[in-house]
Amino acid sequence: MAILNLAGGVDTPPPAPSALQDARIEAVIARMKAAYRRPSNGGPNHSSDRDPHAYAEYGFSIHPDQGELIYLLCRSLRAKRVVEFATSIGLSTLYFAAAMRDNGGGKVIGSEIVPEKIAVARHNLVEAGLSDYVEIREGDARETLRDLGGDVDFALIDGWPLGEGPSLALQVMRLIAPQMQGGAIALNDNAEPDYLAWIRDPANGFRSMSLPMKGGTELSVRTQVDPA
Ligand SMILES: C[S@@+](CC[C@H](N)C(=O)[O-])C[C@H]1O[C@@H](n2cnc3c(N)ncnc32)[C@H](O)[C@@H]1O
Repeated sequence: MAILNLAGGVDTPPPAPSALQDARIEAVIARMKAAYRRPSNGGPNHSSDRDPHAYAEYGFSIHPDQGELIYLLCRSLRAKRVVEFATSIGLSTLYFAAAMRDNGGGKVIGSEIVPEKIAVARHNLVEAGLSDYVEIREGDARETLRDLGGDVDFALIDGWPLGEGPSLALQVMRLIAPQMQGGAIALNDNAEPDYLAWIRDPANGFRSMSLPMKGGTELSVRTQVDPA
């Protein structure tokens, strides 16, 4: 990743080895990365076809740098319960599950509406030796994530475009936010404008910044548990 230096130039440090330090998980991630491809219509952000079931063969996964960040933040928080919207074929899930294992135990609550993707995600988790740490809830996340069974330490909001009305990212975040204690972290991948407006308004109980990763990754910390 390029980094701005104090003189306004750009430095490119040598890539860091994966923080996971686990050859078995890293091999699954490398295989998923090599298999990554985009649909010929450009995907739901570039086509009028936004039915998630029409893209059952495509992962639309986070960038591995975002996964490394998720892993390190979850380690720092000593996270024990985390949630992701959504799971797809499970790349983000692998980083979360590795952090749960390395934190001495914990639970990843995944969500996905396309059953074929859940099957692939489960296969990937078995191959990585991490399935014991993950529960994937099948169906519309606006229903399946209503009750997370306790407060979550970290929420990934990596959603899907609807085309009209409030974004799925915002709808799901509004369900999850009351299930986050002060200090919990939210990470958003797609910079949906209504999500950004909501999470950046301190009245909603978060402080937030945009990271220069994958075209803008919003990192937010829960600061206020019951905003007025
Ligand atoms: C960007 S992908 C998630 C990628 C995943 N976080 C990763 O890094 O591998 C978004 C996923 O949301 C799923 N999805 C779309 N609408 C959904 C809904 N209402 N409820 C649950 N999942 C949904 C899609 O099928 C798609 O797999």
